[in-house]
Amino acid sequence: MYQIVRKVSLNPTVTKMDIYAPFVAKKAKPGQFIILRVDEDGERIPLTVADYDREAGTVSIIFQIVGGGTQRLNAKEEGDYIPDFVGPLGRPTHIEGLKKVCVVGGGVGCAIALPVAKALHEAGCEVCSIIGFRNKDLVILEEEFKACSTTFHMMTDDGSYGRQGNVCVPLNEMLSAGEQFDEVITIGPLIMMKFVCAATKPYGVKTIASMNPIMIDGTGMCGGCRLTVGGEMKFACVDGPEFDGHLIDFDEAMSRSRTYADFEQREREDSCNLLNKGVE
Ligand SMILES: Cc1cc2nc3c(=O)[nH]c(=O)nc-3n(C[C@H](O)[C@H](O)[C@H](O)COP(=O)(O)OP(=O)(O)OC[C@H]3O[C@@H](n4cnc5c(N)ncnc54)[C@H](O)[C@@H]3O)c2cc1C
Ligand code: FES
Repeated sequence: MYQIVRKVSLNPTVTKMDIYAPFVAKKAKPGQFIILRVDEDGERIPLTVADYDREAGTVSIIFQIVGGGTQRLNAKEEGDYIPDFVGPLGRPTHIEGLKKVCVVGGGVGCAIALPVAKALHEAGCEVCSIIGFRNKDLVILEEEFKACSTTFHMMTDDGSYGRQGNVCVPLNEMLSAGEQFDEVITIGPLIMMKFVCAATKPYGVKTIASMNPIMIDGTGMCGGCRLTVGGEMKFACVDGPEFDGHLIDFDEAMSRSRTYADFEQREREDSCNLLNKGVE
């Protein structure tokens, strides 16, 4: 059993939890993820390792409450336990040798982008961060990004905070002004990553996208997380989750991400009903 030692609400739909999981904390690296279950019969929920403290033995996760599983996770409080917390899984982010990187995060994807930006900064890399949200109320991790970035851009779709526009606006401005990056790393909604990759392609800037397809076992056995990358089938859980963004078939990934939409809607309603009745 894994104890929730700290729980903080970052905005109305995003929560951070520190989980006591010393073996995961000991081995975790930026870019990797864990799979947890909230209860014995629960679905497996993959979440990125947002941070870790090897001495305290804790791993931080930051999750958006989007459906039944994350609603039930959010109903847990400090001191409660979850039965499964498996990891670290997936390949860590490639950090070595990079001198200047632009990290582009969108929405809750910023929780996944932050450990990458921090690791790059700690390795002496110059980090330019661009983070985007729908509106001011949804902004998370601003100070944390500023602390590890040489340049920082805050964007909101409606202009209620930072600059108005999407994350491609400052990216396009920098690229067209001749700014050079060793890499662009993008993490967020599929449609955002597709446009970030389209923006960098004409400039030949290597672009890494972190893919979060539906995962089941997380060990390369079930095929649930398959993607087409450069015409080849890849499994995000063992070959990724990061891939060369210019080679990803984003349209296929977007279509596959909607496969279980009806089931997820029913599960969300069932979970709401149970939680409203005080049953966890
Ligand atoms: C490697 C990886 C890392 C992730 N890291 C984060 C993170 O750090 N923070 C965060 O908020 N979210 C993260 N996600 C997405 C997160 O796993 C889903 O939001 C969560 O599983 C939704 O479960 P649910 O039951 O609440 O929602 P559901 O109602 O079941 O689904 C809502 C949406 O979540 C996605 N989803 C559902 N089940 C899965 C699954 N088993 N695997 C992947 N996606 C699923 C689908 O796109 C679906 O449309 C990550 C996903 C992957 C694959
Ligand atoms: S989650 Fe089963 S193969 Fe990746």
